[in-house]
Amino acid sequence: MSTSSNVAPNDLSAFWMPFTANRQFKKAPRMFVAAKDMHYTTADGRQVLDGTAGLWCVNAGHARPKIVEAIAKQAAELDYAPAFQMGHPKAFELANRLVDLAPDGLDHVLFTNSGSESVETALKVALAYHKVKGEGSRTRLIGRERAYHGVNFGGISVGGIVTNRKMFGTLLTGVDHMPHTHNLKQNAFSRGLPEHGADLADELERIVTLHDASTIAAVIVEPVAGSTGVLIPPADYLKRLRAITKKHGILLIFDEVITGYGRLGTPFGADYFGVVPDIMVTAKGLTNGVIPMGAVMVSAEIHDTFMQGPEHLIEFFHGYTYSGNPVASAAGLATLETYKEEGLLTRGKELGKVWEDALHSLKGLPHVIDIRNIGLVGAIELEPIAGQPTKRAFSAFLKAYEQGLLIRTTGDIIALSPPLIISESQIGEIVSTLSGILKILD
Ligand SMILES: Cc1ncc(COP(=O)(O)O)c(C=O)c1O
Repeated sequence: MSTSSNVAPNDLSAFWMPFTANRQFKKAPRMFVAAKDMHYTTADGRQVLDGTAGLWCVNAGHARPKIVEAIAKQAAELDYAPAFQMGHPKAFELANRLVDLAPDGLDHVLFTNSGSESVETALKVALAYHKVKGEGSRTRLIGRERAYHGVNFGGISVGGIVTNRKMFGTLLTGVDHMPHTHNLKQNAFSRGLPEHGADLADELERIVTLHDASTIAAVIVEPVAGSTGVLIPPADYLKRLRAITKKHGILLIFDEVITGYGRLGTPFGADYFGVVPDIMVTAKGLTNGVIPMGAVMVSAEIHDTFMQGPEHLIEFFHGYTYSGNPVASAAGLATLETYKEEGLLTRGKELGKVWEDALHSLKGLPHVIDIRNIGLVGAIELEPIAGQPTKRAFSAFLKAYEQGLLIRTTGDIIALSPPLIISESQIGEIVSTLSGILKILD
């Protein structure tokens, strides 16, 4: 197939690529030119099995007809409508569908264009909510070590990945962090939820004692920390966090940018863990990654608190030019429809055991110091090469790409999160390719 998109550009220098080793990439570019279902096609015509749903977002697989058609139709019918003081039907329809899908109690939706923007939106809602309620002293935000909440200033402030924070000054003030829950000593090779560490939620009590609850607005956590290398919460940890936040009037924000839309075998992580937050941050799988869009779901209590004062006044001074964009909304509706028709939001539960057994069969191979899994997420943690952290896993990534498999690596952790349409034999293919690579890695 020859299309304008697979003619290799002759100059790669202008595009400063995100979260990429630019010089390494531009010496030996890895270009995708097409994608269908579970596979990418490379510029040199090879098929690559998508072991990562793009970047944790293409949950229904690539180029799904319903989504493609909806986007084309919407662009021709109503391409754009002003997001402020004007509306269009599809944004309302999508918000209604999301409220139906979300856990009971999350009844209103703010739209954004990415996970990072969803995080900023949630943090601002939390701060403003307390202010409107007359508790303006609640200004502190609590995140967690190793957390990833996108790349904007609020997100990196509550986030806990040092490389994403250290170059950018003092960040937001009044932020504190709970400890992360990763514990290789006690929990290595856990299947599903690790047994040890629920008591780490009590660290929030320590932070409350230090600052006083009257100064704390919200706690934000990923139900399963993804980008930092798949850190699965210990059993009961999130329930404890919910109890402590409730006790102190602190809002609980779940960042479900990765765990949302079926990744854990339930519609949301909140469903998996049986814990309903006050605010839920989503993006990625909302539109199957095709069009940028995020959605922040909030409780009726939060929404209703804002709905006061003269009716001609704007209640919340926040929003984006593209909030609820018509084409993105159409993509979102078609994506939810595809998930529903194919039972994809619960497919991770059906395939969970096969996935778990397949991944854990890699135990004992060279360099493997942990394997963990939940839903259709998995991680293989490698012993770093002494003095050269990240090199071993990056080399596995390059070898996998050469052998027709897309994986993702963070530090020395291989993260896997395939589209939810993956077949059992494709799971076998991922594991056998990785097994071969692990045996030959330096
Ligand atoms: C938990 C979490 N929050 C936020 C983000 C940021 O999303 P985006 O890259 O769409 O801004 C990500 C992206 O991986 C994420 O995993």
